[in-house]
Amino acid sequence: MYYPEELIEEIRQKNDIVDVISGYVGLQKKGSNYVCCCPFHSEKTPSFSVNRNRQIYKCFGCGEGGNVVTFVMKYENCTFPEAIKLLADKAGVVLPEVEYSEEAKRRETRRQRLLEVNKEAAKFYFYQLRTPHGAKAKEYLDKRQLSEETRKNFGLGYAPVRGEELLAYLRQKGYSDDLIRDVGLAKIDERRGTTTQFWNRVMFPIQDINHRVIGFGGRIMGDNDSGPKYLNSPETEIFDKSRNLYGMNYARSARTGNIILCEGYMDVISMHQAGFTQAVASLGTAFTPGQAALIKKYTKDVLLAYDSDGAGVKAALRAIRILRDAGMSGKIINMNPYKDPDEFIKNLGKEAFQERIDHAENSFMFEIRILERDFDMNDPEEKTNFHNAIARKLCEFGEDVERENYIEAVAEKYHIGFDNLRKLVINTAAKTGGYAVAPEKPKSGIQKKNTPEENVKKAQRLLLTWLTDYPQLYSKIKEYITPADFTIELYRKVAERMFSDIENHTLNPAGIINMFADEKEQSEAASLFTTKLPELENETEKEKAFHDILLSVKRNSFNYYSEKLGVDLSAMNQVIEGKKALEELSKTHISLN
Ligand code: CTP
Ligand code: MN
Repeated sequence: MYYPEELIEEIRQKNDIVDVISGYVGLQKKGSNYVCCCPFHSEKTPSFSVNRNRQIYKCFGCGEGGNVVTFVMKYENCTFPEAIKLLADKAGVVLPEVEYSEEAKRRETRRQRLLEVNKEAAKFYFYQLRTPHGAKAKEYLDKRQLSEETRKNFGLGYAPVRGEELLAYLRQKGYSDDLIRDVGLAKIDERRGTTTQFWNRVMFPIQDINHRVIGFGGRIMGDNDSGPKYLNSPETEIFDKSRNLYGMNYARSARTGNIILCEGYMDVISMHQAGFTQAVASLGTAFTPGQAALIKKYTKDVLLAYDSDGAGVKAALRAIRILRDAGMSGKIINMNPYKDPDEFIKNLGKEAFQERIDHAENSFMFEIRILERDFDMNDPEEKTNFHNAIARKLCEFGEDVERENYIEAVAEKYHIGFDNLRKLVINTAAKTGGYAVAPEKPKSGIQKKNTPEENVKKAQRLLLTWLTDYPQLYSKIKEYITPADFTIELYRKVAERMFSDIENHTLNPAGIINMFADEKEQSEAASLFTTKLPELENETEKEKAFHDILLSVKRNSFNYYSEKLGVDLSAMNQVIEGKKALEELSKTHISLN
């Protein structure tokens, strides 16, 4: 859905950011801002700040920021058009219905049609399981100890040996071969005509959160049967494997306060049968950020019940990262000595499984435990290397309290002196530029790495923040600085718009953020207006700081284009002008008033 920029801007203006955010979290007035604990990362002291004048928010803890649209996208886990819709409804702005074009209607009808085909196919497979043809499949499910109730619940079925039966059934219902192919149930080729995707397999219909069948998984029944153990529907218009989870249609209403994420269909089914209806699995592919976002709508607590083999551990490590990036916490359920939840429950029962859930391991401690396997603890050098690796990982914690707690836990578990480990972490941070306890200033919070690249970006960000605070400065610097001096593409786009807005006396940071539909870009754009300016006492010092930033941005731009000279002719102009501007600038005094 495409909305004109003016409409988006109108919707944004009609939704005051303080009012909207107050609807989600408790804000408190502090000076000219409103603050609270950040809803996007866990913290104990508020570093989330909302500015009514600028209509933007920013968390000084995790760096998250943007305008009212960014906030809604982020909080509701929704897309840009969905956030616009929500805000439009709130403000009573009617979105153009005409945009709901013939095209869109046609697509919706087609989706419905594809879903119908799947539903019919699921009914067909379900029925086949209960005929004499399905005897072998029934026997297989008996062997796997699935109750009749479970089979019904998950709509398990059987795809007959020949495959053509399904085609005949669907054709007789009026569905064309093309449609059957498009939904992933058949292939059409010149030589063999239409052939079905699944035959002689136990069928697992895959449902979305609204219980609609969007695809299938099929398992062979004997070890000697041909083909892969599990075969899935291909991705289609209605089957997006990266945004759906098997079992989520039931897990969403489990009310256990957590979700158990595992690898297989059978694991999900086994867990549900044992009463753990919060279990879900990815769809034959690795866990994705889209799936994390789906889970996050219901809970932030995820328990991983991955296979205990090498591949399972690797997949778990990946999933932990994805969950962490999504601001969620993961814990690992220990399945030893069994391979997966299905086997565990069959052998030790549900009480034992519940106990494993209660004692699930913290994901950071799990990562360290896995890391340990790479080192030989009997060799002093390797042991040192292990401790250094631990220290590097501990540097990743941005919050002091959290990091200190982990230092304590790790020190105790691996018998390293707390003070020694703490010192090692501080030294590592000093060397690598990670976050760490700065001994002289313990409450320093987050410090970005001081890499040259980060310094360049920071200078460009600071300049834009200065201009937001003192737009009158623009006329004094415009002969030296142009958008081309902003060497980071997104910054350049913002500078272009900002400079023309200042010229037209229409500067409006929250509106500039609207230029970007992507949440990450919005957040980055917001950071350009909210960089922390140095707190300086007097005018002279401020002027000097501003002058330094100007020079730094200009010098970087000069270097940047000089490097491009050989390959990019247009750089020539920038370099010649840049040299002149730099020389003049270094001699010129620019007053702030
Ligand atoms: N999978 C797949 N294709 C395969 C094997 C596995 O798509 N050839 C996917 C399926 O989604 C399966 C999951 O990976 O559910 C886990 O596979 P695996 O651990 O091999 O199977 P289990 O769940 O243990 O299945 P079973 O107990 O039926 O052997
Ligand atoms: Mn299994």
